[in-house]
Amino acid sequence: MKWSGYYKLDWQDRIQYLVENHVIDATQAKLMAENYSAVGDQQVENYLYNFGVPMGLLTDIEINGEHKSVPMATEEPSVIAAANNGARMLNQGDGVHAAFKQRLIRGQVIAINLDDTGAFQHYVQKHTAQLLAVANHAHPSMEARGGGAKDIVIEPLDEKTVAVDVLVDPCEAMGANVVNTMAEAVAQDLRSVGFEILMGILSNYATEALIEANVAIPVAALKTKQGMAGADVAQRVAQASYMEQLTPYRAVTANKGIMNGVEAVVLASGNDTRAVNAGMHAYAAESGQYKGLAQWTVSDDGQFLNGSIKMPLMLGVVGGSIGIVPAVQLNQQIMGNPDAQTLSAIVAGVALAQNLAALRALVSSGIQAGHMALQAKSLALQVGATVAEVPLLVAALEKSEQINQASAQALLANIRKEKR
Ligand code: MEV
Repeated sequence: MKWSGYYKLDWQDRIQYLVENHVIDATQAKLMAENYSAVGDQQVENYLYNFGVPMGLLTDIEINGEHKSVPMATEEPSVIAAANNGARMLNQGDGVHAAFKQRLIRGQVIAINLDDTGAFQHYVQKHTAQLLAVANHAHPSMEARGGGAKDIVIEPLDEKTVAVDVLVDPCEAMGANVVNTMAEAVAQDLRSVGFEILMGILSNYATEALIEANVAIPVAALKTKQGMAGADVAQRVAQASYMEQLTPYRAVTANKGIMNGVEAVVLASGNDTRAVNAGMHAYAAESGQYKGLAQWTVSDDGQFLNGSIKMPLMLGVVGGSIGIVPAVQLNQQIMGNPDAQTLSAIVAGVALAQNLAALRALVSSGIQAGHMALQAKSLALQVGATVAEVPLLVAALEKSEQINQASAQALLANIRKEKR
């Protein structure tokens, strides 16, 4: 099968080509047609169809004094249930408080083969105002909005290499395009005076966009249905949180749980999940050891469980796919059309909710009980239960000793037998 020129075909011909070459059959082509999106066809090369991710709602989380409903896009059955559960506990105090100290994105312009790195650094220091003007001239609308290139930081890398980092306020955007344009303009300017510049590109390690979120929850809000007192849950959550500072094996899993919520909101809001992910994990290892991003401690008087998280988060509410994907606009509307700072505060709040729900479950009943109930639904669909059969099979699975594919198949067969 030859692929050359495939990208030049229009959508109909691309699908037809797959059918003719027996990659897919006519029924599958129909499925693709049903999930065709004209916007999608403009967004990516070799577009086939839109791959759906379930979208659910975190109904109520209090962030900076406002109650927000938050759409989340995820395929993992327990994520949105956990977010709602965590948020209910966060809301028992006065909600989450989250803010940035600064919100800047970094572009790196890398100079190589320098004979004298000191002289290069001196040149950059002397011409900082000019280089900032070059950056701003490359994207003037950002400066007009009160943003734009604000500062230049020099990063010596080795004896022949120096990065010139431009720090940019991207206003309501995430800033990737703006900062890449600016970095390339600065690179060109430095080349024009004889320096060898390897490249200019943004950094996704958003250390100048660290959001900090805090919450204080009355311990009574943490008591479990199985009878564990709130004060005990709080102590055990704090201990679990401390484990994330001791072992990276636990920290990675806890941060994965945080990313369950973070990615779901970042994706739903039309932002770049990979950029956020890469930055988060780098920051988690900032001290030299990979650690949990969130921390939970019990207040001295034992009355409150205090939670905090600090993480790099560069999100936008304009630019990229945000203005062109109708579902993203819908999701922004459900959140009350937040500005970039508010969206980031929401994400930080969801991170705390997600982490708390996981830790509370882990230190009390364990997560399998809740997970398996949710997994039962996926299992029912996997073994071919119809929409009408799913609730019956889930109920049967919940009563059964084992929740696995074999038991689901056997129980489904029983349900069908009884119906006959
Ligand atoms: C599962 O998706 C997430 C958890 O493993 C997170 C954690 O262990 O903290 C429950």
